[in-house]
Amino acid sequence: MRIIRAKDYKDMSRKAANIISAQIIMKPDCVLGLATGSTPIGAYEQLVEWYRKGDLDFSAVTTVNLDEYKGLPKEHEQSYYYFMRKHLFSKVNIDPARTFLPDGMEPDSEKSCNDYNRIIAETGGVDLQLLGLGHNGHIGFNEPGDAFKAETHCVDLTETTIKANQRFFASVEEVPRQAYTMGIKTIMRAKKILVVVSGEDKAEILRNAFFGAITPGVQASVLQLHNDVTIVADEAALMKCD
Ligand code: GLP
Repeated sequence: MRIIRAKDYKDMSRKAANIISAQIIMKPDCVLGLATGSTPIGAYEQLVEWYRKGDLDFSAVTTVNLDEYKGLPKEHEQSYYYFMRKHLFSKVNIDPARTFLPDGMEPDSEKSCNDYNRIIAETGGVDLQLLGLGHNGHIGFNEPGDAFKAETHCVDLTETTIKANQRFFASVEEVPRQAYTMGIKTIMRAKKILVVVSGEDKAEILRNAFFGAITPGVQASVLQLHNDVTIVADEAALMKCD
C-alpha cells in the first residue's frame, strides 16, 4: 500500500489524474474502472484538460463503472450514467460503446448483475480501478455488513449512505433505496487500485479502513490485502494517520 500525500483537494486531483493518465499512456487500450461521488470530479476535470491540450487519447480506452442506482433512468441528473457523461465521457474522445455501467433500469436484479459480470469479464479485466471512500467505509456501494460480496449484486443502501447522498436530490424521499454495485472480488481482481480521499470528514474512516482490522464492517479494509493499492489523500484526510 502506497500513500501519496497531497496538499489539498486540487493537489490530490492532479496527482490522481497523473496516475490515470500514466496508465492510458502506457497502455492506450487499457480498461479503467471508474467511480462517481464528489471526490473524483477534480481528477476527471484534470484529465479533460490534458485531453484538450492533446496529451491524452481515450479512443482505445474501455471503462467499467463501479455502480448505478436501481430505478434511475440514464437521463436522470443523479444517475451515475449522467454523472459520467457530464464529467468525462462527453468531454473526451472515448467511444461511448466502450463505456459500461450496470443497467439501473433493469428491474430484474439477477439479470442486471449477471449481465454486468459478463460485460466486465469480456473486457478482459480492469487494469486500474479508481475508488472513492464512503463515510461508512463503503467502496462502490458495498455497504458495511457481515460478509464481503463477491460479484455484482443489488444492495439496500444504508441510512447513512441515503443521508450522505441526499444533498444531490430535492428531498430524502427521492434518493433511491437500492443500487447495483460491483462486488469486492471484482474490485480486488483489478491489477492496480487507486483510492482518492479528501477532507477532514474522511479522516477517521481513512484510518480505520487502511490501518484498522480487515473486516466486512469496513468494506474498504479488504484493500489492505491487494498488492497494488495507491491512496492519494489530502492532508485533511490524513490528519488521523500520523
Ligand atoms: C457514493 C458512491 C461511491 C463513492 C462514495 C463517496 O455513494 N457510490 O462510489 O465513492 O459514495 O462519495 P464522495 O466522494 O462524494 O464522498
